[in-house]
Amino acid sequence: MTKRIAILTGGGDCPGLNPAIRGVVLKAAKLGYECVGIQEGWKGMIDAAAVPLSLHDVKEIVGKGGTILGTSRTNPYKKEGGVASVLETFKKLGLHALVAMGGEDTLGVAAKLFKEHKVNVVGVPKTMDNDLDATDYTFGFDTAATIAVDAAERLIDTGRSHRRIMVLEVMGRHAGWVALYTAIGAGADYLCLPERPVDVKDMAAKLKAAHAKNNVALVVASEAVDITGEQAPKEQLDAFGHMILKARGVAERLSKIIEAETKIETRSAVIGHIQRGGGPTLFDRILGTRVGVKAAELAHEGKFGHMVALKGDAVVPVSLEAATAKLKTVTPEWLKLSDDLL
Ligand code: F6P
Repeated sequence: MTKRIAILTGGGDCPGLNPAIRGVVLKAAKLGYECVGIQEGWKGMIDAAAVPLSLHDVKEIVGKGGTILGTSRTNPYKKEGGVASVLETFKKLGLHALVAMGGEDTLGVAAKLFKEHKVNVVGVPKTMDNDLDATDYTFGFDTAATIAVDAAERLIDTGRSHRRIMVLEVMGRHAGWVALYTAIGAGADYLCLPERPVDVKDMAAKLKAAHAKNNVALVVASEAVDITGEQAPKEQLDAFGHMILKARGVAERLSKIIEAETKIETRSAVIGHIQRGGGPTLFDRILGTRVGVKAAELAHEGKFGHMVALKGDAVVPVSLEAATAKLKTVTPEWLKLSDDLL
């Protein structure tokens, strides 16, 4: 009987998942395995929702956004009987291995399943937030930041015409990597990150100075910043205990504060999920493909409980437990660089 590898994608989707799925399927076929796709992340493992994943199914997906398998933020550890159902599905489908593609939440579940139940899992890191420790980059990030830079440049154009200050809000609830790269890549005038509270007086002074010189000033803000002296709206939490940020409206809150402080007309824009859609950049296509191929190799070698990481230019296995132990937030070196530039 042909051995079987299952693939699931969990958490927020991001460009690069489809190339990664394709990478697993192509390499697995070379190694003599057939693949099945688990639908909608861990939810599909609980419900035993699997579909065949043939070479034909992945033929034209390398440039496609989203995930052909669907995704969810389901946490089997938070569902009554969830873990038992996952173990049951693993047996029922006759799996040799499960490749779980996700961020800290999805991979955190994989790490626990390996540790507690010796499940044959291999992890593939994905997140547009780029906040997974133990890998230099995750696919999805390059595409998201590229889209955000384009949005930022458009805001500068219209802002200059109207002599306005513009605020762009990007995703990143615990780590400000997308905001940081966007601000540097688009030549912004101020950067607001979750890693440090926004100093309103400093921001207003810098924006006024930039506006006086250039007739426009741009702020790039991560969705979860703390603004000093401001009472932030209350958050709701998801199944993994993370803030659901859709109602927080950082860009609008900042723009009101900026207008009041600077007396310069200010407008804001939120690009939200636009950053997560569309075809992956070339970088994300190649990275997704490489980590997918490596995941199939690790599954074949029986190197379970590991995630594929990008270290320099090499894709290497790292333990899932270590990889999910802490989040990678913007480092003091990067903060210093942005302070030197902005
Ligand atoms: O996947 C991480 C992320 O992109 C965060 O930056 C953002 O806060 C969150 O997803 C949004 O998730 P949802 O798709 O559930 O609105």
